[in-house]
Amino acid sequence: MDFNLTEEQIMIRDAARDFAKAELQEGVIERDKTETFPTEQIKKMGELGFLGMMVDPKYGGSGLDTVSYVLAMEEISKIDASASVIMSVNNSLVCWGLETYGTEEQKQKYLVPLAKGEILGAFCLSEPEAGSDATSQHTTAIDKGDYYLLNGTKNWITNGNSASVYLVIAQTHKEKGHHGINAFIVEKGIEGFDIGPKEDKMGIRGSDTHSLLFTDVKVPKENRIGEDGFGFKFAMRTLAGGRIGIASQALGIAAGAYELALKYSKERKAFGKPICEHQAIAFKLADMATEIEAARLLCIKAAWDKDNHKNYDLSGAMAKLYAAETAMKVTTEAVQIHGGNGYVKEYHVERLMREAKITQIYEGTSEIQKIVISRSVLRD
Ligand code: CAA
Repeated sequence: MDFNLTEEQIMIRDAARDFAKAELQEGVIERDKTETFPTEQIKKMGELGFLGMMVDPKYGGSGLDTVSYVLAMEEISKIDASASVIMSVNNSLVCWGLETYGTEEQKQKYLVPLAKGEILGAFCLSEPEAGSDATSQHTTAIDKGDYYLLNGTKNWITNGNSASVYLVIAQTHKEKGHHGINAFIVEKGIEGFDIGPKEDKMGIRGSDTHSLLFTDVKVPKENRIGEDGFGFKFAMRTLAGGRIGIASQALGIAAGAYELALKYSKERKAFGKPICEHQAIAFKLADMATEIEAARLLCIKAAWDKDNHKNYDLSGAMAKLYAAETAMKVTTEAVQIHGGNGYVKEYHVERLMREAKITQIYEGTSEIQKIVISRSVLRD
């Protein structure tokens, strides 16, 4: 078994690391404080190919593998988890969904500018009463001949205002349950589509999260993705890959906090020596390093499964569950190692601890991952 990365993968990882340090580090505390979207930085990420990493170059993407994507997500997330969630949603949910299931016309019209990073996309599944229970869609899309009439509300949508293209999941045939759900491409600016106020969040505050309101929106029939009734499967397949992206985000948040704690523990002295020389701190660092390495291996394994056309539902759910739990534990310990300094914004670890929490919640809570994992192990 070869654990070595390819030259290309190393190059991508290093490019993401350099970019994060050069372009995202400065101002990250301020953007968090003022809830400022990293507009310029995201534009540059698009130009560098980070927003359509796995998309075929014929559709404007970088044509890279999922392992490279995991490596880049880790590096960006170490510094700025707001930038990485914007990147993750665009890559894994929107671009992947369109490239895999869209028509050629849909790809030319929407995927090409999304993959080039000229515009951003959003994935709209969650509703006030349908977060984890994704089959309970209240948003309706009624077939009116050459268009669908879309009505309803979506909640907690990443890129809610910054996106230009929205993939919206809605119920068309209520009597068919999840087999009656469809997925649609909805353009910003279409009549009846309103964007609600921005959420005031605990973390990832540089990303814009909004509710979306659809009132008698006429969605052209050609904007449906896949066959009639394919929407729930579309959402599940897309989220299965999205979980690898969020797992890598959690990994990066953990690794970022660990690197800061390691450095701090070598500099900070107590009782006459650097605190890393006290076993209480050294053992914390040992646990953190071990858990991060385990999370990294799970992320890369899930990405490898996807790249090699194997089933990645289980490995992706395991990676997301473990990496998210690790992010929460490691960032909490990083704050502890920093002591009083850990509790103030200047040292970054309190922000990373707040960012970690969302990885246990979005794209399926830790409990949802356990449902996916337990169903799989009980079936086998
Ligand atoms: N791939 C393909 N099909 C799948 C699937 C998968 N991974 N998982 C389920 N399905 C199919 C099933 O086969 C079934 O189809 P059939 O009836 O034809 O057999 C159908 O979907 C329903 O499956 P279940 O009976 O298993 O559905 P369930 O109601 O028990 O729920 C669940 C399954 C895994 C819990 C699912 O509801 C789920 O994943 N919930 C979490 C949703 C989620 O992650 N939301 C996050 C919002 S997006 C977000 O956060 C983005 C962002 O902005 C960052």
